[in-house]
Amino acid sequence: MRFFLSGSLLLATVLGTAVPRAEKVDYTGFKVLRLSLHKASNSIEEQVEKIAAHVLNPGKSTLDVVVSPDSVAAIKALVPESIVINEDLGASLAEEGELVSPDFSVSAVPSETWFTAYHPYADHLKFLSDLQGGFPSQSEIFTAGTSVQGRALTGIHIWGSGGKGSKPAVLIHGTVHAREWITTMTTEYFAWQLLTKYAFDATVKSLVDKYDYYIIPAVNPDGFVYTQTTDRLWRKNRQTVSSSTCVGRDINRNWPYKWEVTGGASTSPCSETYKGQVAGDAPENKGLVAQVNSLRAGKGIRLYLDIHSYGQYILWPYGYDCSLVVHNSAQLRSIATSAAAAIKAVSGTSYTIGPSCSTLYATTGSSVDYIDATGNATYSYTWELRDTGTYGFQLPASQIQPTARETWQGLLSTLQNAG
Ligand code: ARG
Ligand code: ZN
Repeated sequence: MRFFLSGSLLLATVLGTAVPRAEKVDYTGFKVLRLSLHKASNSIEEQVEKIAAHVLNPGKSTLDVVVSPDSVAAIKALVPESIVINEDLGASLAEEGELVSPDFSVSAVPSETWFTAYHPYADHLKFLSDLQGGFPSQSEIFTAGTSVQGRALTGIHIWGSGGKGSKPAVLIHGTVHAREWITTMTTEYFAWQLLTKYAFDATVKSLVDKYDYYIIPAVNPDGFVYTQTTDRLWRKNRQTVSSSTCVGRDINRNWPYKWEVTGGASTSPCSETYKGQVAGDAPENKGLVAQVNSLRAGKGIRLYLDIHSYGQYILWPYGYDCSLVVHNSAQLRSIATSAAAAIKAVSGTSYTIGPSCSTLYATTGSSVDYIDATGNATYSYTWELRDTGTYGFQLPASQIQPTARETWQGLLSTLQNAG
């Protein structure tokens, strides 16, 4: 990342342009504190959000917050029950590895090497188009609307026998939250496996022949770019509101289903979970909603996966109410039980499964609730990938392949059981 930034600085210097450059947030010396809030106290959480640089797990009663060395005392005064879980976040970030831009001078189907490093956003678009270019008769690039800053929400549509659009949809979203970089790589791995294995793997062939896959590895491109240029820990989109200098809506709190219910999102533009001013008022959500509605009107949605990190969870509706039981809860649990076992069988990674609100925390305006209730998906899940907090969002590049491989087995299991 340092390389990436100094490269662009160098360019600006050589060209002599007056491009205003955003300083990259330097987390050297920043600490991660774990705060026990006991009861979900919104006012304490709001005050913490104002002082902290970031809240890593907004909504939990035990909050992990990133704090500058100067602000540690203020946080401890607010929440006496706090422990330091990371003494120097800057050092952890260095372990993640630099952004690598592969040699794309020759267009070819990407090799597995792609999954050994993290990459700049533009390279992800190239990855998708090179992959698609290798399988032109059974895939195409699609877009699902446009981000705040005008980037297309770009995905790959994959189909098998019977032709394009003839089967129920499997819809997969990655990088809803900008800092969850392992999810971009893992959703790309899904697409890569489905296409490159189709010709010689009977299981993959049968699953590609059964569904139409719509995979969008980065549904929050602006936020993702911002994590690469400016702030590695950015979560939301990059939308402004006139009433505040704070930026960003949480795309996973903006979906127009039970958006108005209180308790599962924030009404403060400065919060990590800011829901927006009106249901569905983020451009990213508008595009995603339109695609969901059109898939519903077509062959329907058999499976929706919203891929996040971190925590190692498989979660199903509902997010907005902890006491509601979704009508097909038993099937959702049984499919999730098998998927967790399939993931664990690869290298021992343990997942917790359950209904999202009671298992993790309440969320209103979330994708899984919308796509279950309004999108009429048969099965709708949130997956939270590795890890459980050791590295958190900055999973070292050496863990990309192990994570992608185990999660792929979870996907195969899910697809086989989704009947
Ligand atoms: N961690 C994600 C988020 O905060 C997923 C939440 C899943 N839903 C839930 N109700 N816990 O948006
Ligand atoms: Zn997330």
